Amino acid sequence: MNPGLATLPPKPVSHSRTTLTELMIPAYANFGGRVHGGTLLSLMDKVAYACAAKHAGQYCVTVSVDGVNFRQPVEVGELVSLMGSVNYVGRTSLVVGIKVIAENVKTGSVKHTNTSYFTMVAKDDADQPTEVPPLLLETTDDVRRFLEAMKRKELRAAFSEHFDNARTRMLVADGLELLRNERVVLGNELT
Ligand SMILES: CC(C)(COP(=O)(O)OP(=O)(O)OC[C@H]1O[C@@H](n2cnc3c(N)ncnc32)[C@H](O)[C@@H]1OP(=O)(O)O)[C@@H](O)C(=O)NCCC(=O)NCCS
Repeated sequence: MNPGLATLPPKPVSHSRTTLTELMIPAYANFGGRVHGGTLLSLMDKVAYACAAKHAGQYCVTVSVDGVNFRQPVEVGELVSLMGSVNYVGRTSLVVGIKVIAENVKTGSVKHTNTSYFTMVAKDDADQPTEVPPLLLETTDDVRRFLEAMKRKELRAAFSEHFDNARTRMLVADGLELLRNERVVLGNELT
C-alpha cells in the first residue's frame, strides 16, 4: 500500500455500500408525465453522500459527476433503486459509483436507467479537504471498479487539458465557418 495513505486504517467497500429505494410519486413528474431527471440526480447525490460520508467518517461535498446519461425514461409508480459503493479513493477525494434501476412491480420488468460516478471530497471542521481512509479491496469487482476509476480520472484530465488548449485557440471569427452546416442563424451584427 502507498505509505502516504497509511495514517488511517483501511475500510472495505462493504462498509459504506448503500441502497436507496424510492417510489416515484406524481409530484416527481414533469409536464410529460415522466420523472424529472433532476429528481433522479438529487436522489443519486444523497446516495453518493451517504457512501462517501460513511467511508470518510467526515462531512463530504460533491465535486463533479461523470456519466449522467439517462438511457430510458422512468415512469410515475415505478420503484427506483439506487445502489452506491465507493469505487476509488485518493487522498481526500472518493469516487462513488451509482447504478440506478427502475422496476415496474406489476409486470416485474426492471430497467437499468444509468450508472454515474460522483467525485466527493471529505472536509474537516475548518472546511478544508481532509484525508480519507484507504479502501480495502476484497473482490475482483472491487479491483475492477478501482482500476476503471483510475482510467476515468486519467482520461478526464487528458480531456480537460486538450479542451482548454483548444478553447484558447478558438477564435470566433474562424469558428463562424464551422457553423455553416449547423442549425443556427447568425444575427445581422455577426455577418
Ligand atoms: C472541491 C474542493 C474541496 C477542492 O478544493 P481545493 O482547495 O482545490 O483542494 P485540493 O486541490 O486539495 O483538492 C482536493 C481533492 O479534490 C480533488 N478535486 C478537485 N477538483 C476536482 C474536480 N474538478 N474533479 C475531481 N476531483 C477534484 C483533487 O484531486 C483532490 O483529490 P485528492 O486529495 O484525492 O488527490 C473545493 O473546490 C470545494 O469545496 N468546492 C465546492 C464543493 C461543494 O460545495 N459542492 C457542493 C455544491 S453545492
